[in-house]
Amino acid sequence: MAPMMHIMVVDDEEAICVALSAWLTKEGYNVETAASGPAALARMEEKHNDLYLVDFKMPGMDGLQLLAEIKMRQPDATVIMITAHGSIQSAVEAMKRGAVDYLCKPFDPEELSLLMERVAAAKTLQRTATDADGQWGAAQQPAWGGIVGQSEALRIVLDEIEEVAPTTAPVLITGETGTGKDLLALAIHMRSEQAGGPFMAINCGAQSETLLESELFGHERGAFTGAVKARRGRLEMANGGTLFLDEIGEISPKMQITLLRVLEEKKFCRLGGNQPVDTHFRLVSATHRDLRQLLREGQFREDFFYRINVLTIHIPPLRERLEDVPVLADFFLHRYAAETGKPVEGLTPRAVEILMNYNWPGNVRELRNVIERVVVIARGRMIGAEELAFLQPHADTCGPEPTTLREVERHHLLNALENSDWNITRAAKLLDIDRVTLSRKMKRLNLKRP
Ligand SMILES: Nc1ncnc2c1ncn2[C@@H]1O[C@H](COP(=O)(O)OP(=O)(O)OP(=O)(O)O)[C@@H](O)[C@H]1O
Ligand SMILES: [Mg+2]
Repeated sequence: MAPMMHIMVVDDEEAICVALSAWLTKEGYNVETAASGPAALARMEEKHNDLYLVDFKMPGMDGLQLLAEIKMRQPDATVIMITAHGSIQSAVEAMKRGAVDYLCKPFDPEELSLLMERVAAAKTLQRTATDADGQWGAAQQPAWGGIVGQSEALRIVLDEIEEVAPTTAPVLITGETGTGKDLLALAIHMRSEQAGGPFMAINCGAQSETLLESELFGHERGAFTGAVKARRGRLEMANGGTLFLDEIGEISPKMQITLLRVLEEKKFCRLGGNQPVDTHFRLVSATHRDLRQLLREGQFREDFFYRINVLTIHIPPLRERLEDVPVLADFFLHRYAAETGKPVEGLTPRAVEILMNYNWPGNVRELRNVIERVVVIARGRMIGAEELAFLQPHADTCGPEPTTLREVERHHLLNALENSDWNITRAAKLLDIDRVTLSRKMKRLNLKRP
């Protein structure tokens, strides 16, 4: 459940403040208003909002000046400019200076609510990122906000991201469902030169082809029944930023041809229009499907494939990077404990062992759901093996060999530690190794005194 988004509307026209505030409140957001730039800044001393809707033309401090002041005080603030029709040029200027989008007066309620949904979604991602930083601090990779893990496999993926992000080449992210492809796409955007521009995501598999087309291309007024106003599409809104085409394996060959043309010409027409619109964006796509297989089956076009797949990043399934399981589990556990107010503090070593012995067909998403569930039912401070009993090891999925050397070692060390009441010196003696070696192994296998 995403926390409520807090919005401030800054406009010298009272009618606009009242109208926007009423509309957004009705949509379920927390809204406050300010009649001028200085008033907004004064209020910011007390409270930061997630989103600022700022009018361009205000007497005294204008919208652009206020935008700069807001960004200085609250760099993670999202700012959207409100502009009258015909002043698109200044809107473009604002986007260059860090505004994420603009709204034209008079407002189109549909456009407004779509925009709000998008901002709220981006905020949730941003929040996950901040949470992760807070949680792990220097122990993890603070620069990698939101992406938690300690495996070598993930390290390699993050190194690859570091390498590809600053280029402008299209990136294709592959990996099973729930492995974190969305997070990686955002990480690429955040580390790219377009980081200050919009991150525009669209799920190609979630809607009909007609709807997808209109979402991407936007339309002119009267393009089809019900198109009472012109609307910008994602291709246009991604200008200056990143376009993230999620589930790209789902789009039809016909749509692939259309998109290929846009990618090559960097311009397109809105539906029902014949005025070409320029757009420049970095393309990131993702899929859980095997595109080469689709190529062979003739469902995917070769030219399109090579166009989107200049650089590839593959994120391995969780079962191939089990070292990430304990830290991810801990991360989600603290998050849900905080969210639900439950005094849950951690997992017993036996519980961790169960998690490590499971195959995770649904990957990180499944782990997240499992932890959410056990936090809800937890009665003590520690989550034990009993609470995770529903996780059958390797539940009839064909995973890797069930017992790796690592698992055997972990199990053996755990036994020794439990038999010696977690006294390292005694456990080391039992195992016939020195204390330093044992401590190092414990760290590597994430064995902690309960
Ligand atoms: N390394 C990670 N650290 C923290 N959270 C993660 C990590 N990987 C994935 N998640 C979380 O797991 C969930 C699923 O991730 P995400 O939506 O990015 O997966 P996906 O690969 O896009 O899946 P799908 O193919 O189903 O779209 C999200 O809640 C995401 O925040
Ligand atoms: Mg996804």
